[in-house]
Amino acid sequence: MVDKAHCKAGSVTAHYRRSMKLHGPELPAGLVEAIHGARQVVALTGAGISVESGVPTFRDAQSGLWARFKPEELATPEAFRRNPKIVWEWYAWRRQLVARVEPNAGHRALVEWERRVPHFTLITQNVDGLHQRAGSRDVIELHGNLARTRCFEEDVLVDRWEDTGEIPPRCPRCGGWLRPDVVWFNEMLPPEAIERALEASRACDVFLSIGTSALVHPAASLPFEASACGATVVEVNPDDTPLTAHVHFRLRGPAGVMLPTLLTALGPAPG
Ligand code: APR
Repeated sequence: MVDKAHCKAGSVTAHYRRSMKLHGPELPAGLVEAIHGARQVVALTGAGISVESGVPTFRDAQSGLWARFKPEELATPEAFRRNPKIVWEWYAWRRQLVARVEPNAGHRALVEWERRVPHFTLITQNVDGLHQRAGSRDVIELHGNLARTRCFEEDVLVDRWEDTGEIPPRCPRCGGWLRPDVVWFNEMLPPEAIERALEASRACDVFLSIGTSALVHPAASLPFEASACGATVVEVNPDDTPLTAHVHFRLRGPAGVMLPTLLTALGPAPG
């Protein structure tokens, strides 16, 4: 499945790279001006930025996780209570999947962008840790991280437990079940993460919405907050989303092609 997703993403990326070679990367002058003048930039990412690494999205009609699995059976606290073993194993499978892949050109472009502007805030809905592996230092994780574990009973992070073979494993302190440290449907986002995300969105000059279907709130409301406060909003996505009609600029293509193009438009890195 990883390979399939990878092949599909690879061929789409190759298609865009070929067509850009023919026509040259065309960025609207207003967009180039906006990114040049920006002192505060926010990037909000979703599953689409990791597609070119070989990680499936959630809502792609063919390869998306929610096309093959039911969120109400795997991604809610009720599902975990009903069937903790299946839920734990599903997340263990996804943890192994992301451990086998590498960050891509889109992740790396954001690392470089962070170095080029005085204030750069990276907000992600992804739980795959690929931004951090690419080198991004300060990542606001709205939906947690697959690599961390917490106690279902006490709601505290747990980094060590005894492997007795029981699935899910038990909390060494209270004996309750351990769960992945991700935000499930019907759960609150980490308050500090959403507060920081809102603050940065309201203060930025340029807001980039990258590889997200812009359907899941509160993340989906961030570009609207930014726009209401005067930011230039840019969407990077090969497909339309509910946000598309509201953005100032849209770059229709894969993040692994479009983000390096934007970076090139910023000019050479200062020496
Ligand atoms: N580059 C950029 N965007 C892409 C690419 C690509 N190479 N390939 C696909 N996309 C876009 C799709 O067009 C889609 O709009 O990425 C988006 C992925 O959307 P979703 O699968 O809905 O992922 P996301 O927006 O991150 O989902 C939000 O929903 O299920 C929950 O908790 C889960 O964090 C997730 C949240």
